[in-house]
Amino acid sequence: MTAQHNVTPATDWWRDAVIYQVYPRSFADGNGDGMGDLAGIRSRLPHLRSLGVDAVWLSPFYASPQADGGYDVADYRAIDPMFGTLSDAEAVIREAHDLGLRIIVDIVPNHCSDRHEWFRRALAEGPGSVLRERFHFRKGRGQNGEAPPNDWESIFGGPAWTRLADGEWYLHLFAPEQPDFNWEHPAVQDEFRSILRFWLDLGVDGFRVDVAHGLVKAAGLPDMGHGEQLTLLGNQVLPFFDQDGVHDIYRTWRAVLDEYPGERIAVAEAWAPTAARTALYVRPDELHQAFNFHYLNTGWDADSLRAVIDESLEAMRPVDAPATWVLSNHDVVRHRTRLGGSLDRARAAALLMLALPGSAYLYQGEELGLPEVTDLPDDVRQDPSFFRANGQDGLRDGCRVPLPWGEAAPPYGFGDGTPWLPQPADWAPLTVQAQTGDPDSTLELYRTALDLRRTHPGLGAGDAVEWLDAPAGVLAFRRPGGLICTVNTTEAAVTLPARPGRVLLSSLPSSPLAAASRLPSSSSHVVNTESDRMVAADTTIWWEE
Ligand code: GLC
Repeated sequence: MTAQHNVTPATDWWRDAVIYQVYPRSFADGNGDGMGDLAGIRSRLPHLRSLGVDAVWLSPFYASPQADGGYDVADYRAIDPMFGTLSDAEAVIREAHDLGLRIIVDIVPNHCSDRHEWFRRALAEGPGSVLRERFHFRKGRGQNGEAPPNDWESIFGGPAWTRLADGEWYLHLFAPEQPDFNWEHPAVQDEFRSILRFWLDLGVDGFRVDVAHGLVKAAGLPDMGHGEQLTLLGNQVLPFFDQDGVHDIYRTWRAVLDEYPGERIAVAEAWAPTAARTALYVRPDELHQAFNFHYLNTGWDADSLRAVIDESLEAMRPVDAPATWVLSNHDVVRHRTRLGGSLDRARAAALLMLALPGSAYLYQGEELGLPEVTDLPDDVRQDPSFFRANGQDGLRDGCRVPLPWGEAAPPYGFGDGTPWLPQPADWAPLTVQAQTGDPDSTLELYRTALDLRRTHPGLGAGDAVEWLDAPAGVLAFRRPGGLICTVNTTEAAVTLPARPGRVLLSSLPSSPLAAASRLPSSSSHVVNTESDRMVAADTTIWWEE
C-alpha cells in the first residue's frame, strides 16, 4: 500500500516546482540536543507552507555515523536516532502532504558508510569474500602492493583508496568512511530498487540522487592521469564520473518510479562537464530533473548569466525536461556571500532565478538572506573535506550553521540546546520572527515572489525566455503572460528603454513604499514612468505589461 495523503494530484507538478532544501541537522531542533531533527522539521512545516514552496527536499536523515553529515549511510531503511524514528519520518511526510507540500528524500547510491552491514561483513570475511565484490576491493601496485591500485584522488582530498591490514585496498571517491559500491553487481542494483520502493511505499514524492554521475566506473579502473586536486565540477572527463553506463541504472529507476501514482520524481546531482551531458540524465525514460550547477557557478555578470540561461534552456529542449535553477545548497558558499556579499545582490539574484522557466531550488536560510559564516573556529568544524588537505571546495560548514527562527540572541529559537555550530551574534534581524510582516524583509520578498509565481503561472511554465534590448550589464526578458524581468547587474543605476507597464515586484527594499504592491512610485533610486526608468544597482524588477 502506498501512502498519498492529501497532496493535490497534478500532472507535471514538478516542471515548475519550487523545491526547498532542508539540511536536517541545521533546520530546527525539536528535542533540545543542539542538533536539528525530524520533530523540529515537523514543527516548522507551517513556515514552508507560508513561504509558498511546492516541495521540500530533505538531506539524509538515515542511520549514519555522520562522517559526512549523513551522506555516509549505514542503513538506508532506518532513521538515525539523532533525527528521530521511522514514525517521525512518516509523520513529516503525512503532515507535509496535509499542508500541500511534497517531500523528496535524498538517496545516496554511490557509496555507503563503512559501518554498513555489507561492508563490515566484507571486511570481516577478508580477501576473496564474495561480499567484497559489491565494492571495489583491489590489490595494490608495487612489489608488495604498497601503492594504491590507481591514481584516483578523493574529492575530499588525498588518495581515493585506503589500504586494509589484510593488504587489500578499497575505493572511496569521498572520505575513507564512504566506500564506493560496485554498480556492476546485481545485488547492488536490486538493493537500491528495493530501497526506492521502501520510501515510495512510505509516501515520498521523489528522490534527490546523490553523486548521480559517479555510480559507474570505467572498465578496469584506469588511471586518470591528472595529478591535480579534483573538484566536483571540473570540466575534466574522468574515469569515475559521467560514464555512459549510469544511464542504464536510471532507466530501471524510472520504471520503479512510474509504478507509483502521483508522479514521483527524481532529481540528479550530476556534475557533468556540459549542459548537453547533463541533459542525458533527464531523457524521457530516465530521471526528471538534474541540478544546474553551471548556473550556480555563474558570477554576477549579465553576459555570462544570459549565456548560461540560454544554454540551459537549449540543452533541455531535445529531451523535453524542465531546466532547473539553483543558487545555494549545503555544499557551496551561500550565494549572498559568493556573489559579493551584498544583500541587495542576493535578493536580485533570487528574483532573477524565480522569473525563469522551469524548477527552482532554494536552500534553507536563503529566504532570510543569510550570509555564509566565514569565521567558524576550527575546533567546531565537522566537514570532512576540512580535515583532508585541499579537499572539495574546502569548507562547507559555513553554509550549515543552524537557522535563526526568533529571539534576539543565539540559539535564536533553533531549539533549547546549544546549536552544533555556533550562530553569529548579529543574526537577530535575520530571524524568521523579525522578518515576518516586514514588507522590506527578504523573507517577505521570497513570499511575494512565490505567491506571484502561483498567480502568474506563466512565470515558471514552458521553456521560453524572450530577450529584449537592454543597456550593457542589464538583462531584460519577457515571459509568457506579459511579464518582463529586468536585472541590473552593474554597480550604478541604469536607465531602461521606455515601455508601458507597472512594477509588480522589486528586489530593492522599498520602504516607505506601499507594501502590498511594492510599487516604487516615488523612490530616489527607482522611478516608474513610461519615459524614464532608472533602476538601481543590483536590482531585479518584475514588470507587468
Ligand atoms: C554530494 C553531497 C555532499 C556529500 C557528497 C558525498 O555531493 O551533496 O554533501 O559530501 O555527495 O556523498
